[in-house]
Parts: sequence; structure tokens; C-alpha cells
Amino acid sequence: MDTYIAMTKYVSATIGDQPTDGSLPIVQGTMGPAGVDIQALYSRHGVLAFDPGFRSTASCKSAITFVDGDEGVLLYRGYPIEELAEHSTLVEVAYLLMHGDLPTAVQRAEFDRAIGQYNLLHEQVMSFYNGFRRDAHPMAVMVAVVGALSAFYHDVIDIRNPQDRTRAAIRLIAKMPMIAAASYTYFMGRQQRYPINKLDYSANFLQMMFGLPTSEYVVDPVLARAVDVILILHADHEQNASTSTVRLAASSGANPFACIAAGIASLWGPAHGGANEAVVRMLHEIGSVENIPKAIARAKDKSDSFRLMGFGHRIYKNFDPRSRVIQAQAKKVLAHLGKDDPLLEIAIRLEEIALKDEYFVERKLYPNVDFYSGILLQAMGFPLNMFTAVFAVARTTGWASHWLELQEEAHGIDRPRQIYVGQTLRHYPKK
Ligand code: SDX
Repeated sequence: MDTYIAMTKYVSATIGDQPTDGSLPIVQGTMGPAGVDIQALYSRHGVLAFDPGFRSTASCKSAITFVDGDEGVLLYRGYPIEELAEHSTLVEVAYLLMHGDLPTAVQRAEFDRAIGQYNLLHEQVMSFYNGFRRDAHPMAVMVAVVGALSAFYHDVIDIRNPQDRTRAAIRLIAKMPMIAAASYTYFMGRQQRYPINKLDYSANFLQMMFGLPTSEYVVDPVLARAVDVILILHADHEQNASTSTVRLAASSGANPFACIAAGIASLWGPAHGGANEAVVRMLHEIGSVENIPKAIARAKDKSDSFRLMGFGHRIYKNFDPRSRVIQAQAKKVLAHLGKDDPLLEIAIRLEEIALKDEYFVERKLYPNVDFYSGILLQAMGFPLNMFTAVFAVARTTGWASHWLELQEEAHGIDRPRQIYVGQTLRHYPKK
């Protein structure tokens, strides 16, 4: 039988005057839910807050991204994601996330120059790829290569120096397209191309991925724009699992490249960034619109581990605003390429049926950012195992921005506690 205790014993939180009855203060942000500041809970009352999965826990204050899951709202530094996807570029969004405001023309030019200065990989870093099997998953390669960059830039970064911090963040954002592209070209047995600085970020990513030494790569502006939109949509999402991983690693003062490598590792999971790959595998497994009812039944069957990948979200209990934009881009790119993808028809039909099904309706399970992104990426020629790598390229802008923001905080190393449920004290048996 669980023991219950009135929270009022610990938290008769007040807003306003300094409490005198041992109550705990409220922390109020500019938007979204307030928090009860429980930092003194253990020191004052000897009890811990228990919140596995952090469903009701704010781990920090942040000014970067705001998500309202009930209303389906996503703001980067106050700007709605739909407007940024419509009018901005990944590089401009990276500046916005890092610095808090959209860049002026002069700031943008300087930022573009810096990205172009740091987008090459050291030739010795390129040699790391040869240590992998050709069929190594790109995310395994990216975790290793980004982590290895800490060996190249450890001694030249003083993370107490703001200029060094900004330069490290820009280096990471600038190098990710070549790191990701190289994990693909290595798999294909092709020599890695270098960035061409007259091209923009996303066009460069495409030419490094798909350019061949035998002919000039002609950038398709519709595809380059689609890549830029997908990178903007995936750039940040407040304290998701991989960003929280980066922040936890960063709290110990770890090298920023090592912190981002930890984020890549966390993103790879199918419950997180790996879902886009899992969605396409699921749609292939469903195979036709006729098989959708069977898939829905399996997703609802607790004895079956099958889940509707790309559906549901820890925060969005309404539409994920990103999934709508990606669905539109997928339709636009497929029409532009004169392709039709049966998976898109299955996905749209699956969404229609699921959103009328009581199981999904009462649990507020909607398509998330991953539901359509794989269809769009596949239409542009990205292979299945590169989907999460593209997500990692985008999310590096968010991870780097949170890494920078965390450096300004002074709460020291993150050190969660636990509720111990193991053996009580016992002694080693005497021989
Ligand atoms: C991302 O956090 C972020 O912001 C992440 C992200 C970002 O930008 O960083 O938005 C990117 O990771 C998107 C999510 C991608 N993952 C998937 O699409 C995988 C499929 N989705 C599920 O694994 C799940 O919905 C999660 C992990 C996303 C969320 O899980 P929660 O919040 O822990 O939900 P839950 O497990 O508490 O589910 C509540 C109920 C349960 O049923 P009951 O026990 O109440 O009967 O809903 C069911 C779950 O079984 N459920 C699903 C389901 N997701 C939840 N049932 C079938 N299919 C699903 N996909």
C-alpha cells in the first residue's frame, strides 16, 4: 500500500512575500506553466521529489524554445516555427537560436563567413571513417567522429572564454553536413566531396551527399529549400531527451564536441530521433492501405510491442506543428519530381483512420515531426539509415545553443538523486 502525504505539508507555495512557514517559492517564466522551486525540499524536509521520465520536472530555465503541447505551439526565441519554415533559413535560425535575435545584414554576413571558414574536416578526421565497416550505421559513425573532434579542439577551447565558446558552437554547426555526408559517401564507396562556399548550407549538404566526381552537381532549388525547411523544423525542441543529454554532459564542464556526441547517441533511439527511420520501415511493413486496420489493431494491443511510429509525443497532445509543414513539403517535392510514393498515401490514410479511433483520440496521440519526414527525405534520395543523421545535423544548432546558454548558468554539475530500492546493509560472510 503506497503512503500518501498532503503536499501542503511541504508545499504551501506562495507568490509574493518571502514565505515564513517553510513553504517553497514559485518560479514563473514569461510563458507556459510555473514551477514550484523544490531545490530546498531535501535540505529542509529530508524528502526527494520522485519524477522518473521528468514528466513534471523543469530541469532548468531556458529562453531558447517554447513548446505548448496542448495548443500545438512551437516558438524559437518567440518566432512561430511555421513563420520561420516559410521565411527563414537554417543558418539564420542557427544565429537566432544561438544569439536570441535575428541577425542584421552585417551580423548575417559575418556568420556566413564563419560557417564557411569552419565547414571543412581535418584530413586526419577523414581517416577515422576508414576504421568502420562500409555498412556501419551513419549514426554510429557520427557519434564517433564528432566525439573524436574533441581530440582536435580540446586544447584550443577555453570554455570560460565567450569567444571560444561561440567559435566551438559555429565549428560544430559548420562541420555537421560534411560529417553526415561523409558517413554516406563512405558507405557508398565514394570519395568525400568538400563544401563549396558559394552554395548555401543546405545546397552544400546536398552536393556533398549526392555529387559525383564525374559531373558537375546542379543544385535543384526546390530540393535545397526542402532540406532547409526540414533542418529548420528539427533545429530545436526545448528539453527533449538528446538536448537534456547534452546539457547534463555540459554541466560537468565537458568538451563541447564530446557533449554533442552524447546528444547524437541519445537522438539515435527509435523513441526519439530514430523514429523517422522506424516510420518508413513501419509503412513498408504495412504495405498497403488495406492493411491499415490490422496495424491500428496491433498498435492498440498491449500484448504487442508494435507502436504506431511517428505518433504520440511526450508534450504534444495536439498536432505537432512541424508534421503539417513536412507533409506539405513532401507533397510539393514528390509533385516537383513527378514521383508518387505509395507510402505517402498509406501515411495520410493511416493518420485519417487513427485520428478517428477512440484509442488515439482519448490518449491524444497525433502525428509528430517524424511521421512524414522520412517520406520527404526518401523522395529526395536520402537512404533510410541517413534520416536520423539529417535530424542530428539540424539538432546540432539547438544542442550548441543550449550548450552556450548553460555556460551562463551557475547551478553547477547536474546530479539527480534516486529512491534506493536495493539491499539494506549486510556484511561479507566470514570464511
Ligand atoms: C521526437 O521530446 C521531444 O521533443 C522529441 C522530439 C524533438 O523534436 O526532439 O519532438 C522528436 O522524438 C518525436 C517522438 C518520436 N517518437 C515516436 O514517434 C515513437 C512512437 N511514439 C511513442 O513511443 C510515444 O508516443 C513517445 C515515446 C513519443 C511518447 O511517449 P510517452 O509520452 O511516454 O507516452 P506514453 O508512453 O505515456 O503513452 C501514453 C499512452 C500509453 O497507453 P496506455 O498505457 O495509456 O494504455 O499512449 C500509448 C501508450 O501505450 N502510446 C502509443 C503510442 N505512443 C503512446 N500507442 C501506440 N502507438 C504509439 N506511437
